[in-house]
Amino acid sequence: MVVTLALLVLCCQCLQHVIALKNGLGLVPPMGWNTWCTQGLCGLDRCNDKEVREIADTMTTNGMKELGYEYINMDDCWADKRDDNGNIVADPKRFPDFEATIRYVNEKGFKFGVYTDAGIYTCSTGTRLHRIPGSYGHYEQDAKTYASWNVEYVKMDWCNTKLNGTDLDPHVQYAQMSVALNATGKPIFFNSCEWGKDSPWEWMRTYANSWRSGPDHSDHWASTRDIIEHNIGLGKYAGPGGWNDLDFLMTGGQGCGIFFNEPGKHCPGMTDTEYKTEFIMWCIMASPLLVATDIRNMTDVMKATLLNKELIAVNQDKLGVGGDKVGNWNCSGNASLCQLWAKPLVNGTFAIAVYNKDDNEAHNITFDFGLLPGMTGKKAQVRNLYTHEEYASPMASITAPVEPHGTEVFKLTPITTDNTSA
Ligand code: GLA
Repeated sequence: MVVTLALLVLCCQCLQHVIALKNGLGLVPPMGWNTWCTQGLCGLDRCNDKEVREIADTMTTNGMKELGYEYINMDDCWADKRDDNGNIVADPKRFPDFEATIRYVNEKGFKFGVYTDAGIYTCSTGTRLHRIPGSYGHYEQDAKTYASWNVEYVKMDWCNTKLNGTDLDPHVQYAQMSVALNATGKPIFFNSCEWGKDSPWEWMRTYANSWRSGPDHSDHWASTRDIIEHNIGLGKYAGPGGWNDLDFLMTGGQGCGIFFNEPGKHCPGMTDTEYKTEFIMWCIMASPLLVATDIRNMTDVMKATLLNKELIAVNQDKLGVGGDKVGNWNCSGNASLCQLWAKPLVNGTFAIAVYNKDDNEAHNITFDFGLLPGMTGKKAQVRNLYTHEEYASPMASITAPVEPHGTEVFKLTPITTDNTSA
């Protein structure tokens, strides 16, 4: 009996070993753009060849490419139907030659990504006149098609996964697609999207390079606030090869130009302070940085965040640690309104953030560096990563004024020599 059990465990381990995702991708969180909220409000964007080419052009000239934004990804907007042989076909009205669109993106030096669904139809099926097929029953076929098109990123969603009254099992479906993608022999980044329902941080690393850890991020403060809150405690699951995906960046506001006949118009659902908090926290938590808004027309806060080299360096830090909340600062008698976050970086340095969740009041928030591992009794050289200002002398703590819904972010370089630490 004991032997049988031991064999069973061993077999399971072998199976895990065989199906483990070994595509060598995602050593740092992926960076790029996604169609989701660009021309219309989130979910109403109708991606098309012209939009995608213009985005690729813009990203080569506005600094994004040099900063590491490398993926140009379609969301639930590109596919139309299956042909007589079961092959997935792009919408011919919007992509008359989908492979030519992909080639254009590749020639500009970017990687191309697509969206699919584990079930029989995609998620947006309810809002469209016809149903867009998911990959169910076609995992291998779709993986081969993507590979033949040189697709290098696949997001697999989790809608319409009840078949004949029985729910599909995400462990099985994501494993199958992972195997199918690996079997193509092409390195394809794999992102799962089951909204954190089955605690993917605990097991999805075997199959995917990133996993949506929570609900959709929408362009309003309650959504950003809740996603930050939802990810507390999940930092330890992030690391090279597998990342908690906080969902798309809404920076600058979703698109609404189609309603005003003003291409590129943003209709921001948040304040610039809130977009700043969003970007800082996505960087601290080492989330994928996938911008879903219209980068052809960047607002000031988009430039200050999305093009902030020092913040991006925090997100992309090679130590590959997911930052997390390390403490609270008591504001107005409420113990969790003002939060202290930290992300260890290479060479013993840290990024820290002080975050004010209060809806009305600004607060002075103090971060005592003694909270950080190895920092008891030590001082650090401090640099503000948003303003790029360096403080004159080393400090053992910092007190920063933080607006309601705001965040301030700093880099700490510990001082080690005796004469400077006094
Ligand atoms: C789900 C996902 C979103 C988006 C839509 C597409 O809601 O969570 O990110 O991909 O489906 O329909």
